Amino acid sequence: MGALKKANRILLAFFVIPTPPYFCTMEKKKVMLGLRLPTDPRLVEIVEGNIEEILTDHAYCEQKATTNAITNIVRFPEFSEMVEEMTRIAQEEIQHFGMVHQELLKRGLTLGRERKDPYVHDLATFILHGGGREEQFVDRMLFGAMIEARSCERFRLLSERIADEDLKKFYYDLMVSEADHYTTFITLARKYGKGVDVDKRWQECLDFEASLMEKYGKRETIHG
Ligand SMILES: [Fe+2]
Ligand SMILES: [Fe+2]
Repeated sequence: MGALKKANRILLAFFVIPTPPYFCTMEKKKVMLGLRLPTDPRLVEIVEGNIEEILTDHAYCEQKATTNAITNIVRFPEFSEMVEEMTRIAQEEIQHFGMVHQELLKRGLTLGRERKDPYVHDLATFILHGGGREEQFVDRMLFGAMIEARSCERFRLLSERIADEDLKKFYYDLMVSEADHYTTFITLARKYGKGVDVDKRWQECLDFEASLMEKYGKRETIHG
């Protein structure tokens, strides 16, 4: 994957990976990256009512994404290409953190205290703690891919519907970057998950995420 250029990875995210296709029709709405349930567009109104909160929550999502990439390196240092990719992703996520922080400063706001992310906490219960090393690795990659996929879907919704022109572009740029990260996580799961049926496990992950989504999408947070 080292040779896979960024533009190609993004193209893969949109058109090839995974099966079923990137966009599927459900309830007459397009849902991205195989996600079972779309976010209710009314989330945009909730977000617009509290820009400070969404930006604060978002900043900590990017911080956690940075931390998660570094944790993957520490847990699985023998997977050299993964270490290279997580090094890149950790740098991009901390850049995203900086971008969100700048949006706060532009509005005369100061970054508040860390926000918890109950969605990610719930999703983490999906990860296998027993089993073989390959199984555990695949689950950690799919956990990352799932968060990227949902974040990407939320950024797309915000980029299409938010009134603020600066934020439209801001969310669009992040959507593209997170789609690339999603592809990277899935590709690494397939590369190093020897003997693991990654496609089957990804479908289970998507089902599990859908079971969580009933209670999310109602607060001015990226995943909430
Ligand atoms: Fe990010
Ligand atoms: Fe990301």
